[in-house]
Amino acid sequence: QLKNNTIIVVLGASGDLAKKKTYPALFGLYRMGFLPNDVKIVGYARTKMDDAEYHKRITSYIKKPEGDAEFDGALEKFKGFSSYISGGYDDSESFANLNAALEKIESEYKSKGKNRVFYLALPPSVFIPVAKHLKEQCHVAEGSNRLIIEKPFGKDLESARELLSSVKEHWTEDETYRIDHYLGKEMVKNLLVLRFANVALNAAWDKNSISNVQITFKEPFGTEGRGGYFDEFGIIRDILQNHLMQVLSILTMERPVSFSAEDIRDEKVKVLRAIPPIEREDTLLGQYVGANGKPGYLDDDTVPRNSNCPTYAATTLWIHNPRWEGVPFILKAGKALNEAKVEIRIQFKDVTQGIFKDISRNELVMRIQPAEAVYLKLNTKTPGLQTRAIPTEMDLTYKRRFTDAKIPEAYESLILDALKGDHSNFVRHDELDVAWKIFTPILHWIDGQNGPKPTPVPYPYGSRGPKEVEAFITKYGFKRQATE
Ligand code: BG6
Repeated sequence: QLKNNTIIVVLGASGDLAKKKTYPALFGLYRMGFLPNDVKIVGYARTKMDDAEYHKRITSYIKKPEGDAEFDGALEKFKGFSSYISGGYDDSESFANLNAALEKIESEYKSKGKNRVFYLALPPSVFIPVAKHLKEQCHVAEGSNRLIIEKPFGKDLESARELLSSVKEHWTEDETYRIDHYLGKEMVKNLLVLRFANVALNAAWDKNSISNVQITFKEPFGTEGRGGYFDEFGIIRDILQNHLMQVLSILTMERPVSFSAEDIRDEKVKVLRAIPPIEREDTLLGQYVGANGKPGYLDDDTVPRNSNCPTYAATTLWIHNPRWEGVPFILKAGKALNEAKVEIRIQFKDVTQGIFKDISRNELVMRIQPAEAVYLKLNTKTPGLQTRAIPTEMDLTYKRRFTDAKIPEAYESLILDALKGDHSNFVRHDELDVAWKIFTPILHWIDGQNGPKPTPVPYPYGSRGPKEVEAFITKYGFKRQATE
């Protein structure tokens, strides 16, 4: 399904995203043999540099794993089909130059057809002009044209609609690939299989068996130099509205009619539409303060002194449909916490009282990162002569179970999908629209658009988050379990 005659153009080639994600993923795909045979990569950015300097940068973007004897040779070959052209983001002449450079490469093709993939590793302020100029100058008539874009897709419902419709003036939905990199993560992709290929799980997947669900994102570092960006967006726009909502929608949607991109996304949209906007009372906001030698959020020079921007948020959503009525879905995300962890925790209901007392609830945990795992907390009889139940775990830790598997990076998986023209793991315009509807009122409240701004509660850098979190999750029915 990979097309020959493909050029991948990375716009913003000297930026942070290209450096940390795009180039390492392209190189990873190349090494696994998943780039088209005759692919060419063209970097584009404002910085003026020649190919030699650009190749030096690529070398610095890609880390050499220890003991990898073939790495150097592969990287040389990769650089051999990567070139660079500099230009602006808002003048048609620059894009006419880019087009001329692409045509020069294409003039050597032996077969017909041109396939151009434009990866916008760019700040949102230039999305619209770049989308416009690319369409006008670099869109090919014979072949395929693909535009890959990254969040932030707007700041609220209205701005997202504006952005989407401006891009749509130039690029069709079919040509557009909106990345939410959580959709490329192995465990998120596994959700479809876990849910729909297991009768045992599927049968318990509803309000009759499930008490509450938590989707948690924890990061052990603060804004660290990204304060300028972060303060404009905050943790809700950065993590909850996109990454955690994507996870939620796959976790709760009905079974799609098929694996096709449209069938899957139809079901995701349907379940999102059953979620009303978040209420203030269902939200807890936090902001980290300096502790243990680490700076607080407000100590970041790029953050305004009196910012009320939340770096932590917990919020509970409700799905009004027959499967989920009454089940709280608690989304929690925070920066500068005690650990790095992203997980889904489904807590089942109590067993009916009778023969057992004080029995722990079952929990199914899907750990997205680090160390992918699925484990189910079960009660079992203590081995021996007494009849006592103890909580224990059925544990599917990937590293132990799939010892030889190489788990792809999210970006590798997504770029490959885009090269194949598969939209399943990209965000459709209506998914975005409905996710913004759910979050816009609470965001406007936080931004002070209709009254005084709420003040987030402080929590120390490196802690588990605001101490109020425990009471918050308990309020929605989460019971902390006895451990073995
Ligand atoms: C990005 C956010 O979308 O996701 C960052 O902008 C965050 O703030 C990152 O650090 C987390 O991604 P991952 O893959 O490390 O969980």
